[in-house]
Amino acid sequence: MAANWKMNKTVAETQAFLNEFIPVVRDVKDVEIVIAPPFTSLHTASAILKNTDIKLSAQDVFYEDKGAFTGEVSPAMLSDIGCKYVIIGHSERRQYFKETDEIVNRKIKASLKHNLNVIFCIGESLQEREAGKTFEVLNRELTEGLKDVPAEGWVAAYEPIWAIGTGRTATPEQAQEAHKYIREKLSSLYGMAAQEIRILYGGSVTPDNIESLMRCNDVDGTLVGGASLKVDSFAKIVKYKK
Ligand code: PGA
Repeated sequence: MAANWKMNKTVAETQAFLNEFIPVVRDVKDVEIVIAPPFTSLHTASAILKNTDIKLSAQDVFYEDKGAFTGEVSPAMLSDIGCKYVIIGHSERRQYFKETDEIVNRKIKASLKHNLNVIFCIGESLQEREAGKTFEVLNRELTEGLKDVPAEGWVAAYEPIWAIGTGRTATPEQAQEAHKYIREKLSSLYGMAAQEIRILYGGSVTPDNIESLMRCNDVDGTLVGGASLKVDSFAKIVKYKK
């Protein structure tokens, strides 16, 4: 279960969240918990999470190791600060910052080189869905994004853009249909190894819909935005089985 805080929370707010959240999920053993605060909170979060099982993630990364790239952060810098994960290809990056499949692919490869696990995001817009192009978009994003990428070190996250921050979650049927397609595509790329690749669902996940989504065969976890900003709701999502 991964929390994507997006551009939310100051350092003080990050501290307050984690200090409250850690004891609440201490008894959770069978769920991998990942939290992705903004860059400015990573250092503080890393120190607080040090002796816990909760993993730290960044929300983006650049593909070069170092150099004259004003404003960017490298995979080595993220590893150095204690990040175990990085989100790559989020639709907000693709939409607002013009990230192409090629850039996403370069970022994935650079991150794996530095032992960062990748949360690789894909998903169609409402317009694409309504035009019957969902699978076509997923096929393109998977084919281009995973070019020369091995089967290990990353998880996929299916995030239909129309479900992100809209309160309009995909139905379990819609989620399963897309996840099944993704699994089949991964099988064609990686053979048997595709069964081991986790596929997360993201887009208006809440404590109310987590159970029905997790019941889907090919939904292995979730990437949570809005509902991860409050301790209570993210803890409920993490502990959905109880
Ligand atoms: P949301 O965001 O849960 O607020 O819809 C999910 C995401 O964009 O990762």
